[in-house]
Amino acid sequence: MSKPFYITTPIYYVNARPHLGHAYTTIVADIARRFNSMRQVETFFLTGTDEHGDKIVRAAKKENLSPRKYVDKISGLFRTLWPELNIKYDCFIRTTDAFHVAIVEQIMQKIYDAGDIYFSEYEGLYCFGCERFYTERELVNGKCPDHGTAPEPIQESNYFFKMSRYQDWLIDHIKNTPDFITPERYKNEVLSFLKEPLEDLCISRPKKRLQWGITLPFDNNYVTYVWFDALLNYISALGYPDGDLFKTFWPVAQHVVAKDILKPHGIYWPCILKAAGIPIYKQLHVHGYWNVDQTKMSKSIGNVVDPLQLKNIYGLDTFRFFLMRDMVFGLDSNFSETAFVQRINSDLANDLGNLFSRVLTMVHKYFSGVVPQVDTRTEEELRLGLKSDAFRTIEKYEEHMEMFAFHKALMAIWELISQMNKYIDLTTPWVLAKKKSSRKQLEVVIYNLLEALRIISGLIYPIMPETAETMQKHLGLDPQKPFYYLEFLKTWKTLIPGTNLPKSITLFPRIDLKKNDTSPPGGGDRSSRPAAIKPEITLDTLSKVDFRVATVIHAEEIPRAKKLLKLEVDLGERKTIIAGISEDYTPEDLVGKQVIVVANLKPAKLMGILSQGMLLAAVDENGCTVATLDKKVKPGTSLS
Ligand code: MSP
Repeated sequence: MSKPFYITTPIYYVNARPHLGHAYTTIVADIARRFNSMRQVETFFLTGTDEHGDKIVRAAKKENLSPRKYVDKISGLFRTLWPELNIKYDCFIRTTDAFHVAIVEQIMQKIYDAGDIYFSEYEGLYCFGCERFYTERELVNGKCPDHGTAPEPIQESNYFFKMSRYQDWLIDHIKNTPDFITPERYKNEVLSFLKEPLEDLCISRPKKRLQWGITLPFDNNYVTYVWFDALLNYISALGYPDGDLFKTFWPVAQHVVAKDILKPHGIYWPCILKAAGIPIYKQLHVHGYWNVDQTKMSKSIGNVVDPLQLKNIYGLDTFRFFLMRDMVFGLDSNFSETAFVQRINSDLANDLGNLFSRVLTMVHKYFSGVVPQVDTRTEEELRLGLKSDAFRTIEKYEEHMEMFAFHKALMAIWELISQMNKYIDLTTPWVLAKKKSSRKQLEVVIYNLLEALRIISGLIYPIMPETAETMQKHLGLDPQKPFYYLEFLKTWKTLIPGTNLPKSITLFPRIDLKKNDTSPPGGGDRSSRPAAIKPEITLDTLSKVDFRVATVIHAEEIPRAKKLLKLEVDLGERKTIIAGISEDYTPEDLVGKQVIVVANLKPAKLMGILSQGMLLAAVDENGCTVATLDKKVKPGTSLS
């Protein structure tokens, strides 16, 4: 058996509920873990929550809860979300766990005794959001790059970790350890940061300012600073220093984080380990941000996407697939529900789903649902190369999965899907089925297609475990055997001729964008918008929209525009609004009506006419209904 595999996610702050960004990292770790199970190596997957610090105290206060009650509540949300997303972790650590606290104390004492922690006065710019001091050069226009707020100058005496001592060692370690930080751009970012002298790390907070933390073993008046406490979770969870888990898994540790916490993981963490005399972790994998409208998803901005809601509407495997297919690991990606639905329809319903039901339908049509026999001579004569295509796919897939290039691994599988479709077009089973003399050829063709589907079912397992199992059952595979082991995938002819297969099913139903459309007909193309799961917004965001009551003074059709009407409305001033409602309203229906409009929408030209607002309407399967009031009011009245 090859080396074991240990994967971790960041331990998430419990000052906010889990969102799509957290889900992405944790699904990545789950996929990497499942991929390693395909290789039959021993795996361990750690996730958890980071529960100390000012942020948490402030969040608890807001909810009128004690920090203890508050952290229990939010940590519970993370813990219970992961199984809903089919994420199978081995350990869920909390920094408030007693065993973790004991290890933090032990390691801090060790480093203190070795002389790498000292006491000193410090003045610096502190960002409360990040819970760390910033240097001037890290700020963007004087503000924290993550929170967009100006850090506050703070002066106090604190304990410091002599990180600067390890700078040269760290540079050498990064340069001499291939793939220590991946993708390469992040390794370069860390090396470029290390070109400047490294400052020592402030690792404490006075208790008069913060009590919700771990007391320093060598000074009762101070608690640890959040990073020192948090990073040590990766070893405390394994039972450092003597636990069997620690011995087995620490030498192969791989961390997954987003770029926001590259510095603590790429710099602080190796230096802490070095100072404590603990071997350095093996690899750090860094991904980009999921953005909404090009802005990082975050609770403070109020643009978070709820993973559970997406799962409930569209299904879990499609969600996991989309996250892996649409983000290039390492780069940012913009979350769009439209893109999500298009992916489901094209890659899953059309490509994989269709191929699967096409092949199974042929098994039922030509072989009464039984896996056919294969005549070896006929097989050799046909020499159509599906087997070598499938094996080449496995090779590429392994290479990409190893590198966390999940989108490329999926592209490789989809290449095989397209090769299988070509194989069907080339061999024309429906023609072979017409003649008795080509029966043996038909058997080979269908058997090969089933085998290639079997390989696909195994390859998609880490990303879409439920779909993989459904496919496995429909291919008549032995449920006792882990069908996704690479060992089986690399063996051709595993399916047993004579096995009865269940009737084909629809793996992924197509999603009808029009049916799901709830967006208002403001003149745009309705069919391009799916049922919008809109991020939570704050009152502040809502107050930016100017909803007004408008009286329709004039309405007319627009020549050549099938759905559009041009309306002249009075909302205190006169405005022209183009609305996509002519399939449901004539101009006469509208004149005199009081409607509701968004008055401050940026004007846009439609059919050459400038539309200066948007009309609100409800759209369902019966068409659209314009929003009105139940009493007349003065035109221009604001809605609140
Ligand atoms: N508690 C620290 C981590 C300590 S690890 C020893 C922390 N917590 S966090 O709740 O802020 O989580 C940050 C991590 O959440 C990111 O590194 C990433 O894994 C995930 N993400 C949060 N928002 C994200 C996006 N918008 N996009 C992608 N990942 C995101 O930092």
